[in-house]
Amino acid sequence: MSAAGPILVIGRTGQLAQSLQALGRPDVRCVGRPEGDLADPGKLADLVARTRPRLVLNAGGFTKVDPAESEAEEAFALNRDGPAALARLCASVGIPLIHISTDCVFDGRKPAPYTPDDTPNPLSVYGRSKLEGEEAVAIHCRQHLVVRVSWVFSEHASNFVRTMLKFATQREMIQVVSDQTGYPTYCPDLAAGLLAMAEQVLAPGFDAWGTYHLAGREEIDRAGMADAIFAESRAIGGPSARVSPILTRDFPTPAKRPLNARLESAKAAEVFGLKLPDWRTGLQKSVRVLVAEMR
Ligand SMILES: NC(=O)c1ccc[n+]([C@@H]2O[C@H](COP(=O)([O-])OP(=O)(O)OC[C@H]3O[C@@H](n4cnc5c(N)ncnc54)[C@H](OP(=O)(O)O)[C@@H]3O)[C@@H](O)[C@H]2O)c1
Repeated sequence: MSAAGPILVIGRTGQLAQSLQALGRPDVRCVGRPEGDLADPGKLADLVARTRPRLVLNAGGFTKVDPAESEAEEAFALNRDGPAALARLCASVGIPLIHISTDCVFDGRKPAPYTPDDTPNPLSVYGRSKLEGEEAVAIHCRQHLVVRVSWVFSEHASNFVRTMLKFATQREMIQVVSDQTGYPTYCPDLAAGLLAMAEQVLAPGFDAWGTYHLAGREEIDRAGMADAIFAESRAIGGPSARVSPILTRDFPTPAKRPLNARLESAKAAEVFGLKLPDWRTGLQKSVRVLVAEMR
């Protein structure tokens, strides 16, 4: 479509959408549900016709992992059917689609970080709906990137850091699972990485379409991350709590999560030259902003 058109982001109030918006790029346009509803293909078509984007980045979806177990129809509508409609639209106007997916497409049994070529085997409705969304995007739009992300946190919207700080205002001790490991990813760094990918796919001759992982680098478990959050918070006089490690099997949730959520980003480094900064710097910033908001 228009070479000068915006990068159109589906999502506005979400964590990734807010992080993209906060980068302050005048050519990035984030739209929420009233304008770009993944459940309404007609509305998506109007939006694309009106805004004439040069690329679409889908940062929207049904992201509530536990509720998805009992709201499967909505999860599949937003995570599979919406992206399928978006992919068909992008293909019809000849623009690329960057679609965001998740570590939850994997079962977490691999004893090493997951590469984009590993075989998915989701454990939850959320994971299955996201996997089918990935497949639909690949089928309907050749010019696509599926970018899987994981353990995303920031000072924006709901996320693990905000939840832990809030819990710490309510109790002295918090049980957190210690056998789920991941690579935490600071959302503003992820957002900047995604825009760098967008620029590169728009460059003449780009042809490395497909699936990528983009995540932080240092591994930690959930209980360790909670400890790191409280250490940062304590250092600035914010709320903190004692972390009591617990095993996932003793902490049942409606949706099963992969114990190993580590996403290997080597392919993104090789193709796009991307390496996300140390997530601990982002954690310090997130905690500072969130603690200030709580005062
Ligand atoms: N957060 C994580 O740790 C994590 C981990 C793995 C993968 N991901 C993936 O990363 C992406 C972004 O996640 P996030 O953390 O930014 O999620 P989030 O904070 O929960 O935001 C959800 C976004 O989805 C949008 N949305 C909900 N229903 C919609 C609909 N019917 N039509 C269009 N948009 C709709 C919301 O739109 P409004 O702006 O209108 O509210 C919001 O912007 C998602 O694909 C998610 O699966 C996230």
